[in-house]
Amino acid sequence: GSWYDADIDRVIISEKEIQEKVEELAAEVAADHADVEDGVLLVCVLKGALMFMADFSRALGRIGPSAELEFMAVSSYGHGATSSGVVRILKDLDRDIAGRRVLVVEDIVDSGLTLSWLLRYLESRRAVSVDVVALFRKPDAVKVNVPVRYVGFDLPNEFVVGYGLDYAERYREVPYVGVLRPEVYNRD
Ligand code: PRP
Ligand code: MN
Ligand code: MG
Repeated sequence: GSWYDADIDRVIISEKEIQEKVEELAAEVAADHADVEDGVLLVCVLKGALMFMADFSRALGRIGPSAELEFMAVSSYGHGATSSGVVRILKDLDRDIAGRRVLVVEDIVDSGLTLSWLLRYLESRRAVSVDVVALFRKPDAVKVNVPVRYVGFDLPNEFVVGYGLDYAERYREVPYVGVLRPEVYNRD
């Protein structure tokens, strides 16, 4: 067993289901970007999207246009408060994206706050197009008007971890998505 086995109540998305979905998303993105001559610019939103970025970029690479892998880190404020939240950039892009087709690679859309800010930011940097691929979506995300072109799974409103999703910076390395036992977050 693994150190986290006792902390996970049940698996809701298996490793195999994740891998199959990642391939499907890559196929969709490849079909929609077949005409892109200078390749797509993938922007991974650290840290949660790291696993998805690694698997998605390789799946896309086998079938689709070429890609450049870029990384941003942001920190959100005002979760659950107002929709006019401030997002702070912890790590910015280190290259010009003007004139490029950008695809934001996110693990999860929850309130949508992080993404709506990020989309405005990337558009202000004069990308030709900015689309989003998110592997997971929480129920609240349907309430906000943030355009997520490619979505993998809709998740129930439960505390889930794994495949990049953390609780207090832990459980990101869990290879599946599982529901965290309430004892874990109630004891902290
Ligand atoms: C999580 C997740 C998304 C964001 C979604 O990141 O990875 O980036 O929250 O939430 P939202 O739709 O309500 O904005 P977090 O800020 O926890 O940082 P992390 O990726 O480093 O875990
Ligand atoms: Mn994140
Ligand atoms: Mg997090």
